[in-house]
Amino acid sequence: MRKKVIAGNWKMNNDLSQSVNLISEIKNAVAGNAVNAEIIVCPPFISLETASALVKGTNIKLGAQNMYFEENGAYTGEISASMLKSVGCDYVILGHSERRAIFGETDEIINKKNKKALSADLLPIFCVGETLEQRENDITKKVIEDQVRKGLSGISEEEIKSIIIAYEPVWAIGTGKTATPQQAQDVHEFIRNLIKEMYSSKIAENIIIQYGGSVKPDNAETLLSQPDIDGALVGGACLKADSFFEIIKSA
Ligand code: 13P
Repeated sequence: MRKKVIAGNWKMNNDLSQSVNLISEIKNAVAGNAVNAEIIVCPPFISLETASALVKGTNIKLGAQNMYFEENGAYTGEISASMLKSVGCDYVILGHSERRAIFGETDEIINKKNKKALSADLLPIFCVGETLEQRENDITKKVIEDQVRKGLSGISEEEIKSIIIAYEPVWAIGTGKTATPQQAQDVHEFIRNLIKEMYSSKIAENIIIQYGGSVKPDNAETLLSQPDIDGALVGGACLKADSFFEIIKSA
């Protein structure tokens, strides 16, 4: 049985004091309740160190939203995998569609980032997803296959065990338009079969595939009850402790 993994991608929201408030509220909500899911919060870089101290000793894990694939050096404005480790991150979101679309990240760059994160013992949450135009042109599976194959190129059977894949249809992100549970399940099943083909049935059975795109308390349960949906990567609804916690509870 795969565990459910619920991650909150805060994106570019919350300064340091707002981050402290939100983490504290999430911590309080989680503390008094039996929770089955793995919980990950991904605040902006500036709050990671403080967040790490706040979640210490709880079952809340910390992730970053991005990193660069080089070890160190003249890369103004960038943050390395080992820097993220040094402030207590266990996870890093890589290949988010906003990074692809706004910051020009290619499959090749994302592949390098996946590899670098793994070598630094950071667990990638590797995002893939099609645009509305691609879905309407009926090339969703082709696009997803391409992103998965290229993003995971050269990643070994041993390493893939440390990766979470997040399926985030671009048209469902921040739009309030969620994929129907069946639409999401179809792509999740497709990704799992692809992983089976690329690696093995055992790896495919165990890999965590999260859904992301307008996950809210009122749709989380039906999405999370699909056989191949193992969790959620939540944007907007993770910015309030109560709605994030409602989603955690539905897992
Ligand atoms: P929303 O939940 O706001 O649609 O964002 C999803 C997302 O991009 C998470 O990474």
